[in-house]
Amino acid sequence: MVGALVYARAWWNDRRVSFTDFVPSGNQGVDPELYDIENAAIDPNGSMWQELVKQATWVGKTLVDLGCGSGWWLPKYEEAAELYGIEPDPSLLDTARSRTDRATVLAGSAEHVPLPDNSVDVVHARFAYFFPHPNFDPTAGLVEVARVLKPGGSLIVIDNDTEQGEFAALLRESAYGDLQGNTTYARSWWEEHGADTIEVMSSWQFKTRYDLERVLHLEFSPEFADRWLRENPDRTSLSYGYLLHVWQKPSLHEAEEKP
Ligand SMILES: C[S@@+](CC[C@H](N)C(=O)[O-])C[C@H]1O[C@@H](n2cnc3c(N)ncnc32)[C@H](O)[C@@H]1O
Repeated sequence: MVGALVYARAWWNDRRVSFTDFVPSGNQGVDPELYDIENAAIDPNGSMWQELVKQATWVGKTLVDLGCGSGWWLPKYEEAAELYGIEPDPSLLDTARSRTDRATVLAGSAEHVPLPDNSVDVVHARFAYFFPHPNFDPTAGLVEVARVLKPGGSLIVIDNDTEQGEFAALLRESAYGDLQGNTTYARSWWEEHGADTIEVMSSWQFKTRYDLERVLHLEFSPEFADRWLRENPDRTSLSYGYLLHVWQKPSLHEAEEKP
């Protein structure tokens, strides 16, 4: 019955013109193939992935990759019992669906998750929607995620650390860092909303210098990318700090204890 409801919503959502909270992404949405190269460079030593596993296991559970883009990460959740990718950009849905048969990819967004109440154990949002900023308050998305999470379930938001690591320095100096919100603001926002923030230091490691050059040009202005490349000849990697904001829906027991 739940399956039929999910597929009916999927059919309807695929035909929606757009989701009101959809903001087309300036990297993934512009050049999905190049964004695959960027994704392949992320976290070569697995430190961020290990922290995700430690914070909320998805083995035998239901996991949602919210704002899954073209679905690069979906095949990596093979141990989940049920796997959903949710993505508002209609141009990315077919590729996301082609990544693995194990995932159900649905049109949706952080504020419109087409899944039933209390049905999901773990939600990951990787560089998607949850960018708290003085001009953007993502509370509506958090309320929607809380609706679909089971009591005791977890939301983990994978975010950039704009304070630690070489990528953070790039973000701080470029115009784009400010658009994404700074670490201090994001940390306070999540703390006020009951989440813990965990710092993870990892890196970007590209196979070739050419790949790094192209990705820097995808993420930053040409002048800015070229300057960094001139100042850092021969580099194919850089250190990259992540922030994992971990929010947990109160368990039934905890909810009962509250007045
Ligand atoms: C930078 S991309 C990251 C994609 C994917 N999470 C990854 O890491 O490969 C940001 C994604 O968020 C999606 N997005 C935009 N608005 C959104 C919203 N309101 N809710 C959820 N996802 C959204 C974009 O369409 C895009 O796919």
